[in-house]
Amino acid sequence: MQTWHTITDLRHALHLERQQGRQIAIVPTMGNLHPGHLRLVERAREIADIVVTTIFVNPLQFSGAEDLDTYPRTLEADTRQLQALGCHHVFAPSVKEMYPHGMQRHAIVSVPGISERHCGASRPGHFDGVATVVSKLFNIVQPDQAVFGRKDYQQLLVIRKVIEDLAFPIELHGVATERDAQGLALSSRNGYLDAAETALARALHSTLHATAQRIQAGERNYPALEADASAHYRALGIRPDYFHICHAATLEPATSQDRELVILTAAFVGDTRLIDNLELDVVL
Ligand code: PAJ
Repeated sequence: MQTWHTITDLRHALHLERQQGRQIAIVPTMGNLHPGHLRLVERAREIADIVVTTIFVNPLQFSGAEDLDTYPRTLEADTRQLQALGCHHVFAPSVKEMYPHGMQRHAIVSVPGISERHCGASRPGHFDGVATVVSKLFNIVQPDQAVFGRKDYQQLLVIRKVIEDLAFPIELHGVATERDAQGLALSSRNGYLDAAETALARALHSTLHATAQRIQAGERNYPALEADASAHYRALGIRPDYFHICHAATLEPATSQDRELVILTAAFVGDTRLIDNLELDVVL
């Protein structure tokens, strides 16, 4: 496995791979890899000859008030894990390499509609930052396949739209959310939680689950279910950002006729903002 820090070096290495007729998969990450990320790399290995994992804490997708400065950076441990999994290339550029003229002057990829609700409403500009950096990484790597996690469900749909609208010749794969034994979705931000907060954070998954059960039992008053879930968070000492029952493809509020749903949630456990979701096919 080789680690590259410049676009020129990575492009040269991948040019040689492509000359051998090899299919390339990209796994974009911000590093601090946990087993959820590693599942994506394993999937990439299954579907392509060559795996490129990118590690870049992208400042363009953080707002001023967020955790850009404290976001964990663990490149050495990350590369060790990637090597053990059989990843072929790691791309770990500096901010200067990605935004040589600063972020203010950089072209922006913006996806209207799907970016605007949910996390997009709570984190203005976030999905522009994601869509921009991922488009740039796609252009640099020119992969045949791209692997993302379903943990960031809205992000996955934003990327799907970027691929479609900008005609990237890339096949997109969404990998199921990796959880701990008690259901907590693995996340780099779980590292901010103390033991009591970690126990509390499990309520995101259990509340999603309880809501899904009520839907499957026939309840269709979705705004009431959303309000119950938020009240349950508050009763536990969790501050809800949102709890939304949505149409799985459009992320618009679900109607009682919709069969394919996703429940999206974000909440603050202490100062840490966590997200989770649950996809369900309603039995009508
Ligand atoms: P990051 O949060 O590091 O996540 C990288 C990839 O890992 C994303 O596709 C995310 O959905 C996936 N992932 C994270 N936790 C997961 C889990 N528990 N189970 C399955 N997959 C999981 O998402 C980003 O970085 C950035 O926004 C990025 C796309 C790299 C653009 O900067």
